[in-house]
Amino acid sequence: MGVNLEWKAEGGERSGVVAEGAYLWAAVKRIGVRLPAECEGRGECDTCAVVVSEGATLLSGLTDAERKILSPERLAAGERLACQAKVERGGDVVLRPVPTTERAETAEEAARDLREEFRRMSLKKKFATLVGIEADMAYETLVRAVDIPFDLFGKGLELLAGRGRRIAQNERAARRPADSAPAAATAATNEGGAETPQN
Ligand code: FES
Repeated sequence: MGVNLEWKAEGGERSGVVAEGAYLWAAVKRIGVRLPAECEGRGECDTCAVVVSEGATLLSGLTDAERKILSPERLAAGERLACQAKVERGGDVVLRPVPTTERAETAEEAARDLREEFRRMSLKKKFATLVGIEADMAYETLVRAVDIPFDLFGKGLELLAGRGRRIAQNERAARRPADSAPAAATAATNEGGAETPQN
């Protein structure tokens, strides 16, 4: 007897017959649903979690990994880790995705959110963000997140960061008390390479 599998997600329902003995992750893939699997099926994350709306008794028992990763509330709500739960008997199984507010974001989702956040920032905030990123790794991560080819636009971003740094310096100078202004002006002149008058 086969397994009638249904996937009920907002804006995309799928169904099909899958073989008994398949893990949920592979079973939904057979009907065209690709679940994330950040830990590659080792039971160490919760990105592959699904809610079993029907057919929970047709699945294998909870694994230690599921007990460890999913809270009692989530287990009570019918959640299972798709890489750990196997369809052991034929019948009807209905699954739903777990909202991202409940499970951890995948790296792809986090990058998408960062990209979206960056896109919505004002130009000034973008500069400030770039200035704030000092470590090379973080810089590369941001470049990837905003979809800018690193090699091609790395120099351009450095220029933007330089401009952002100057904006920040000017703002700091504007906030300084008036009596320290000449010192700031001298420092700025020296940075610009002008000669300091000799007595
Ligand atoms: S892929 Fe990480 S627990 Fe299933």
